[in-house]
This record gives sequence, C-alpha cells and structure tokens, in this order.
Amino acid sequence: MCVHLVTNSSLASGVDVFQNAVFAIHSLPFLPVIEWLFIFLPIIFHAVVGIWIARSGHSNLNRYRLAGNRRYTWQRITGYIAFVFIFTHVFHLHGWFHADWWLKTVAEPIGMAQFDPYNAASSLANAMNSLGILWPIFYALGVLACVFHLANGIWTAGITWGLWLTPNAQARASYVCLGFGILLGLVGLTATGAATRTDPAAAKATEDQMYKVRVEGLMIKPNEHKRTDGRRHGHSSEASPGPTLIIPQAVTGSR
Ligand code: HEM
Repeated sequence: MCVHLVTNSSLASGVDVFQNAVFAIHSLPFLPVIEWLFIFLPIIFHAVVGIWIARSGHSNLNRYRLAGNRRYTWQRITGYIAFVFIFTHVFHLHGWFHADWWLKTVAEPIGMAQFDPYNAASSLANAMNSLGILWPIFYALGVLACVFHLANGIWTAGITWGLWLTPNAQARASYVCLGFGILLGLVGLTATGAATRTDPAAAKATEDQMYKVRVEGLMIKPNEHKRTDGRRHGHSSEASPGPTLIIPQAVTGSR
C-alpha cells in the first residue's frame, strides 16, 4: 500500500513522472503472476481470515467507551470498507482479469477496467471523473479506511507479537502509528486529488509522446493493449489523438 500510494501520488509532480513509474512497473517480467502471487492472493487471504475474525470477535464498546475499544471497533469497520473499496477499485481500474472476452463483454460495458497503463494519467483522470464527484469521494473514503486499517493494524499486531507490551511502550507505539497513518493518509489524498485534477487531453499528448520515444528507442515493445487508442479503438471521449506513431521495422519485424 505504501509503495502503491507513493507511486500514485507522484502524479502530483507531473504526468511524465507518473508515466515513468507506470512504465517501470509494467516492464516487470511475468506481471500477472506477480500480481496474483504477491497482491491478489494475499489480499483475498487477508479478507477471508479478516471477515472470519471480525465475525467471531465480541466488541464491548457499549460497556467500556475507551479509546482502545473504539479502535477495536473501527479496525473492523474500516476492514469491511477496505474490502469493498479494494475489490471495487481493482475492478474499476484494472478490471480483475486481463482476458479480452472478460474486458470487452463484462468490465468495459459497465464502465470498469478503465486504466490504460501506457496512458496512465489521462485514463486515470477520465476514470476518476466519469461519475461526477462520486468516484473521488469513494476513493478518499476508501484510502482513509485502508490507511487507518493498516496503521492501527500495525499497532495491534505489535501487541500480538509481543513488540510493545507495557502501557508506556503501547502509548509510544500509538504515537508512531498515528504519525505514520497521518503521513500515509496525506500521500493517499494527494494521489486522489492529483488524479481528479489532471487534464486528460494534455496528459494524453505527453503520454503518447513518451510512448513513441520509448518504442523508437527500443526501450519497450509496442503494445496497443496498454494504450487508450488501441484498447478503445479511438473511442476515448476526452482524449486527443496524439502524435502519429512510426514504429521502426526492426521492432515490428522482430515480433
Ligand atoms: C489514491 C488512490 C488510489 C489510486 C489513484 C490508485 C490507482 C490504481 C491503479 C491505476 C491501478 C491499476 C494498476 C495497473 O493495472 O497497472 C491500481 C490497482 C490496484 N490498487 Fe490502487 N489506487 C489507489 C488506492 C489504493 C488503495 C488504498 C489500495 C489498498 C490496498 C489499493 C489497492 C490496489 C490493488 C490491490 C490493485 C491491483 C494491483 C495491480 O493492478 O497490480 N489502491 N490502483
């Protein structure tokens, strides 16, 4: 989550900075395997175990209105919010599965799978602004719920693992986790704000130019599936056509 939110907040520094980061991520070999092994399966595991724990625990908030008790309850509430947020968010931008039939017949017709990695900022901005203010509010709340869940979760994990056991140690750890949460929350809100404010047409022109330079410099392989023009057959609503792409023979010939 830290790496993901910092990467996304790089959009506040510029469309090119964010696009470079996404190019780096998408140049990793076996990306779908990495995604499933290190992101999706662990999150699904955490969600299943988390729901089981939340349903079997007993909150005593009605009897003891202590800060620790409130945090116990909020850990569960934010867990449920994070669950809904992550599954909706990954469907909204990533589409869950990359199979063409799934994307074309299920995800895209209902406004999901909106992120095009080689047009990162413009497709993100279009996705973010496709339902007025609704997606930005959803993202802001989702990000804050995830951040609380992580920061408070680290604190409770520290108790379970015996890292801070005395009341004093727990109080100190509380401050550290609070500071971490506030910082990561600001990073997440910066990302949400930057995605919402980006001008898609101007961003797309920059991205298309960056793609052209990379393909011509043999830094990446041409991949229309990762571009807005290629994926959506030129039907992207607010995007400009961008520069014409001349792919050298050596590149096209080798595939
Ligand atoms: C500021 C808010 C956020 C923005 C702008 C954002 C953006 C994105 C984008 C663009 C993708 C698609 C990546 C791709 O297909 O290459 C993605 C995927 C994902 N996001 Fe977020 N995200 C945000 C917050 C979060 C939060 C708080 C979580 C919580 C853990 C999260 C979890 C995920 C996961 C699990 C994926 C799928 C992983 C993957 O695509 O490889 N995101 N996000």
